[in-house]
Parts: sequence; structure tokens; C-alpha cells
Amino acid sequence: MTKLSNTLYQSRRAHVMATLPKGSVAVLRTGGLCTRNNDCEYEFRPNSLFFYLTGFPEPDAYLIIDQEGRANLFSLPKDIEKEQWEGFRYGEDAADAFGVNKVQTLSALEGDALAILDGAAEIVFPLEDTVLQDKVMAWRSTLSKRARAGAIAPTILRDLTPIVSEMRLIKSAEEIALMEKAAQISVQAHRAAMQAVKPGMMEYQLEAELNYQFMKSGSRQLAYNNIVASGANACTLHYINNQDQIDDGDLVLIDAGCELGCYASDITRTFPANGRFSEAQAALYQVVLEAYYAGFEKLTVGEAYEACHNAAVETITAGLLTLGLLSGNLQTLIENKAYRAFYMHNTGHWLGLDVHDVGAYKIGSDSRALQAGMVLTLEPGIYVSKDNMDVESKWRGIGIRIEDDIVITDQGPYVLTHGLPKEIADIELLIAGN
Ligand code: GLY
Ligand code: MN
Ligand code: MN
Repeated sequence: MTKLSNTLYQSRRAHVMATLPKGSVAVLRTGGLCTRNNDCEYEFRPNSLFFYLTGFPEPDAYLIIDQEGRANLFSLPKDIEKEQWEGFRYGEDAADAFGVNKVQTLSALEGDALAILDGAAEIVFPLEDTVLQDKVMAWRSTLSKRARAGAIAPTILRDLTPIVSEMRLIKSAEEIALMEKAAQISVQAHRAAMQAVKPGMMEYQLEAELNYQFMKSGSRQLAYNNIVASGANACTLHYINNQDQIDDGDLVLIDAGCELGCYASDITRTFPANGRFSEAQAALYQVVLEAYYAGFEKLTVGEAYEACHNAAVETITAGLLTLGLLSGNLQTLIENKAYRAFYMHNTGHWLGLDVHDVGAYKIGSDSRALQAGMVLTLEPGIYVSKDNMDVESKWRGIGIRIEDDIVITDQGPYVLTHGLPKEIADIELLIAGN
């Protein structure tokens, strides 16, 4: 697996411990395998918070960072027989491979956890993890019962998630370089799909182009399920059925991104199956594109996060008004959120280890200011339901979204997903094979 440097994980762990009161102990865990059916499992994907602080890719592992800041990893033991069937395990070699202080097998977890937690000022862990909650409470309770023998049970529990989420929100240069790699694999996949599209294909046949390109370029994981939506299917925001035939005259909306080293990319393009936008399709597309550019302008250091969405909403509402899908006064339509009949999602989200990445969008009640190193998506859209009888029939069943991945820099927004056309003329040229 593509991996970042051990010093990065070490400095992240040091940063976490430096933000906590002296004497705190942090406890985290990754997930286990999930059964698909009978004795077959889904492919394992590490827990993002755990992975952010360790880079350790195996299932069923725990990390305890003790009061001295030492990282104690508990993982599945080396087992020649198991590894014959299930594959390689690091075992004790994880200490060097991932830069942790000590590696123990999982069977040592209970005993070591009790020893490390005895007398700790606080236990810090992701509170939403109910498995960990149960374990931590059980350890605490055992220590309480050993009070007469001199044990001291920690009395304060603290949530680790918001601390790590804020760290994850600002990406390092190493992370951004990896995210650009993921983004560029996805760009190539979208380009291949645009060049492969033909009316009459099934949506999943076009999806196959994406998967082929992702894997061929080194990514075996999707950041989320591929959306390949033709015609009115594009109005279903998370359409993943991908089982319909692509008809002549349809637009095809592809929202697909690969994952690389557990980092997500997230791209949407919308293009005509037969290579030419109809007049109505082009008119709506142009509104979405203008909303993209209006939002893009707001992606600068110090600007409020919500300014991008507000700019996109204003452009979309004005465009729908000009084209006659809405009527009335622009400001009133915005205030009444009339655009939500056609544009019902936000204009973006944080992007990182999770496609909808962590980090607060507001500080108190205020939209937070953008900072260098934040990575987000810009993804305006317009979706006209095929059943919307309030608009002319030519608009019905058209769904459009344009989405790129962008890093905020002191020099302005930098598009990680560069090289993928979004202007109408450029898309038509690419589909035509130029
Ligand atoms: N692909 C999911 C999203 O764009 O949010
Ligand atoms: Mn997105
Ligand atoms: Mn997307």
C-alpha cells in the first residue's frame, strides 16, 4: 500500500499527546473483517482515524499511546498457517515498519491496557466507537475494583475524534502530493470513460472503463461507489444501480473517484452520450459551469467556507430564473430556497482519508475561514426531476454536476483534478477523440 513516512505518523501522535493534559493515555483501534457471505469477507479497509496515526493496514489492531507518549501497537500475531491462507502479517516487524515503540500480539491487550491506564489522568479515545467504549469502561471498572491493591482508575474520558479531525483537516505537503496522484488517476479514468461512451451501452459497461483505469494505474479501491447515471438517473444523487442502457440523447453523469493509500478523490463530469449537448442540456450545463466558477472565486485563504456555496446558489438561481425554470425575484427566491427543487445539496465537502472528510464546518455558529492546506470539493449541480410538471418538458430528466478536488493555498485554489475538461466545447472534442 502507498504509505507516508513514519516520521509523519510519529509527529502526528506527538501532536495529539501535546494537545492533551499531562498524564493522558490515548486508545484507538482499527476495524475487523466483515463477512460478505459464508466464509467470504469484504476487502479490509482500515479505520481512518487509526490509519492517520499509524499507517498500519492490518485488521484487528489497537494502539495505546501511554503517558510517556510511547506508541504500543497490538496486532494479530505472526502465524505461518493463517498467513498461508490469509496473507502476510507484520507481527513484531511492525515496530520498524511503522515506527511504533512496541508491538505485542492482541492477546496481550487486556493486561497491558490495565497496566498503562492505571493512574492515567484521562482516557482519550473516539467516543463514538462503541466497541472501544465497552472495552475502556471494562478496563476502568477492573482498575476501580483493584483500588485496595493500589490501582487508580482514570476518572476522565475525553473524545479523541475532534482533536484528530482538526488535524486531518489541514493536509501536509506529503498528503497533498498523494491526493494529487489519486486525483490524476481518477482524471485519466474519467477521460477514458468520456472517450468510450456510445449510445446503447449499459451504464455498467462504462463503469468498467473506470474500474479498469483505476486498477491499471495502481488503485484497487474506490473512494465510494461509482455513480454512472444516464438520463433521468442523474437526478438521483447517489445513484449506484448503474444497470440501465445509455440512450442516444442522454447526458451521462459520472461521479467516481479512486482511493490511493486510503486517500480519496472525488470527481464528477456530465457529458452527452452521443457527443453533442442538446440546446436545453447545454443551457443548463452552462449555468452549472458558471456556478462552478463563481464558487471557485471564493476558495481563498480567509474566505468563509460557506461563501463558495452562497455564490454557487446565487448563480444557479439566477440561471434558472433566466431560463424560466423559476420565476419571481432573485433575492426572494434565494431567501425562500426555491433553488432547492433543483439544487438540493451543498457545493462541496472536505476531502481526505474519507470522501466526506472530517473537520468542523463551523466555529461556533460561524462558517469557518478557509486555511491553506484544506482540501475540498467544488460540486455545483442542477437536477430537474422527470416528474417536474412545473417546468417545460425539454428540461425534465436532466441532471448535471461538475465536481473537482481543490486544495486551498496561499496563492489561491489549486485544482488537484486538473486536466479533465469541463467546458462544453472541450468535452465534445474529447468525446470526438480529439
Ligand atoms: N461522490 C460523493 C460526493 O460527491 O459527495
Ligand atoms: Mn463530492
Ligand atoms: Mn462526487
